[in-house]
Amino acid sequence: MPKITFLAPDGTAQTVDARVGDSAMQTALAHGVDGITAECGGAMACATCHAYVAEDWMERVGPATGIEADMLEFAACEVTPASRLSCQIQISEELDGLVLRLPETQI
Ligand code: FES
Repeated sequence: MPKITFLAPDGTAQTVDARVGDSAMQTALAHGVDGITAECGGAMACATCHAYVAEDWMERVGPATGIEADMLEFAACEVTPASRLSCQIQISEELDGLVLRLPETQI
């Protein structure tokens, strides 16, 4: 089972088990990770699941493109090349060890 670490803005790390096929957003909600709001439930219509992919994972996860990149313009915090909507990151075995940083706020 892949593990994902969510890093809060204060540096607190929460490492949780993720199910292959779930999104990183679903994984966060299932484990009560603070900092992912996900108002639209994963429909790519809210940008309240914004997260920053840790630098050494960016190549494997890939950048936001298309509608996801457009939606990120509505994110409450600064958008960087590491920004993704966590509802669009699908968990696979290859993402075991993924680290996602959470923004200061989602709204
Ligand atoms: S949960 Fe709304 S865009 Fe990801």
